[in-house]
Amino acid sequence: MAISSFELRRVMGHFATGLTVVTTVSAEGEPSGLTANAVASVSLNPPLVLVCVDKTAESHPHFTASKVFTINILNEQQENVSRRFAGKGPDKFVGVACRPGANQAPILDGVLAYIECRLVAAYEGGDHTIYLGEVEEASTQEGRPLLFFRGGYRQLDG
Ligand SMILES: Cc1cc2nc3c(=O)[nH]c(=O)nc-3n(C[C@H](O)[C@H](O)[C@H](O)COP(=O)(O)O)c2cc1C
Repeated sequence: MAISSFELRRVMGHFATGLTVVTTVSAEGEPSGLTANAVASVSLNPPLVLVCVDKTAESHPHFTASKVFTINILNEQQENVSRRFAGKGPDKFVGVACRPGANQAPILDGVLAYIECRLVAAYEGGDHTIYLGEVEEASTQEGRPLLFFRGGYRQLDG
């Protein structure tokens, strides 16, 4: 018998992750973004990363429209940013300090790292689409990560 969505989410919640806001732009050039932890490094040569995006997400169509996205890795002070981008609506970027990257997708101020990508493939992944991006620019800064474990926000202990 297939595992229920609830149980899969509960079990996968034991796999501790960082948190990101993945940004892109609409065909009209409007910024778009969502909180995501289904993010992974795929290949070093060529440099490829992926993000899995729910097909019902408002940001979902913008990835293929613009063919760019940026993974913003959040620091431990950015739980409010994660909560905001896990919500819905057109006002997510209001009051959020950010700038357009070289690929035009927003880079949020203060993030631990950002990874600018050009979309190279989109794969079926059940109720999500797996967006594969080639890394064009990336940068880090000092700080500590925001973590997610067993359904809650966490910080490094020590
Ligand atoms: C901790 C956490 C992790 C999440 N990870 C993902 C993810 O990897 N992929 C995804 O599509 N949605 C993920 N979400 C849900 C989206 O952030 C949420 O559905 C958001 O409202 C989508 O925004 P949009 O509809 O404006 O695109 C996550 C939410 C939380 C709180």
